[in-house]
Amino acid sequence: MTVRPSRLDNHPIEVLTREDIKSSSIPYAEQSDTEWSRALPYNSLPGPSRLRLIKEVLPGGKYCNVNMMELNRLLRETYGDIYLVKGLFGREDTVFTYNPHDFEIMFRNEGIWPHRVGLQTFNYYRKKKRPEVFHGIGGLVSEQGKAWGDIRSKVNPIMMKSQTIRENLAQIDVIAQEFTKRLESMRIVGDNHIKCNFLEEVQKWAFESISFIALNKRMGLFGDNPDRKALNLAENMSLFFQLSYEFDVKPSVWPYVQTPAFKEFLIVYDNITNITLSYIEQEMSELQRRGIQEAKSVLEKLLKIDKHIALVMVMDMLMAGIDTTASTSISVLYMLATNPEKQLRLREEICELLPEPWSPLTTENSKNMPYLRACLKESLRIMPITPGNMRTTIKDLVLSGYQIPAGSNVLMGVMPLANTDEYFPKSDKFLPERWLKNEKSAELKSKNAFVYAPFGMGPRTCIGKRVAEMEIETLITRLIRNYHISWSGKEKLKYESNIITKPCGEIKFQFEPLR
Ligand code: HEM
Repeated sequence: MTVRPSRLDNHPIEVLTREDIKSSSIPYAEQSDTEWSRALPYNSLPGPSRLRLIKEVLPGGKYCNVNMMELNRLLRETYGDIYLVKGLFGREDTVFTYNPHDFEIMFRNEGIWPHRVGLQTFNYYRKKKRPEVFHGIGGLVSEQGKAWGDIRSKVNPIMMKSQTIRENLAQIDVIAQEFTKRLESMRIVGDNHIKCNFLEEVQKWAFESISFIALNKRMGLFGDNPDRKALNLAENMSLFFQLSYEFDVKPSVWPYVQTPAFKEFLIVYDNITNITLSYIEQEMSELQRRGIQEAKSVLEKLLKIDKHIALVMVMDMLMAGIDTTASTSISVLYMLATNPEKQLRLREEICELLPEPWSPLTTENSKNMPYLRACLKESLRIMPITPGNMRTTIKDLVLSGYQIPAGSNVLMGVMPLANTDEYFPKSDKFLPERWLKNEKSAELKSKNAFVYAPFGMGPRTCIGKRVAEMEIETLITRLIRNYHISWSGKEKLKYESNIITKPCGEIKFQFEPLR
């Protein structure tokens, strides 16, 4: 094993050189020496020079004010299916590939502790600014190597087990029902539009749902008297996303100079940490009062592992579990609203299981909703929350005929490929049928297993996948069971892309109550 200090996000990384692999029995898919020696050198990868990139992002440049998705599209148009974007202002270089064979090589060679560049500010805040709170634990999003593996192996049995997560279904359904009733109170009778900012309302639903899972607590955001601490947490969470994009994604000088804006960001981190910690301590004393019992909630189960792991997991769930589920839910609703025949088919499935609008959703009946599941999958194919998946190579690899040394950041551009007919026939159509097992739709299925990864892939796949699926499926069930939904926006739903891809602009649905 060799330690390479450079290239990565301030994390020295244990990489496997070609010599290390030869002298060990490590079970990684191997590429031959001949393949490596025949490949073109890393520095011959196409891509803009640093100077060119700076020029093009400045006013008047080709890439000025374009979002991440559009920037990637323009770069691919110019440089082809593999190119290198050199790091600016302390950021690392990133290789972009749009070749599914490369995705396969990457995932088959990621090892048991895949490395994905984390948010640099997370580690700084948790490890340097507040070590007394976090005790050296960075959390899943930003930890690497064995430190990541240790946390992940402890939380996997809780978070990745569908049965454990679905123990929360009844409460998640109550939250979805409350959301639906609140929507009804904001519906303009006759016109069926909603008098509110729909994105904000769905974000409230997502916050209420994930805080129930993470903190075992209802925040009351739908009522007239929401918990003040909860409102404060929600406000800080939303600020966190805006600021993280500035300091974790865009080039920034903060590692060298702490500007007043960065200091503000640290205050946001402090607020989130302090409020979360106070909720956890409240829950801990409640548990102590109740005495020893079998752990029921996700939080209780996490606390049984370790209080510090519970804290970082709760914070990571709150940070990763609001905009992701809110944005995906809106995308699913949009796809259903603009494809009324698919909406009808889904409603038929739901009505069979829930004969009355408010019939309870149970772990039993929710198992039999293949079309609902297929709608979510298809929506995530067309509009995932990230345009691709990121990994750092832990050994030298040949990608698209180029030598990519261990320690290189690689972005696999899954989304644009999943939206071409080459990999998904009739890719521009919303066809949930392509995900059904017993459907005569073999010709619609994916042509390559690596061209669909909305929750990532391998040991580092999204830990919140089960939670997200349960929450989104429950919300869609309640809305489709109670309303015919249509889209009345003048244009198609628009998206902005920063930390994640998120609906923006005019979000205009009509909710017509079902008789
Ligand atoms: C539709 C909703 C969601 C989508 C599409 C999504 C997608 C993703 C993706 C693509 C990754 C990177 C995986 C990889 O690198 O292979 C990820 C990681 C992660 N997600 Fe999600 N996510 C969603 C919801 C959630 C929720 C609800 C939570 C919290 C309960 C969550 C927590 C996390 C965490 C903690 C990680 C880092 C995992 C690790 O590095 O070990 N996500 N997610």
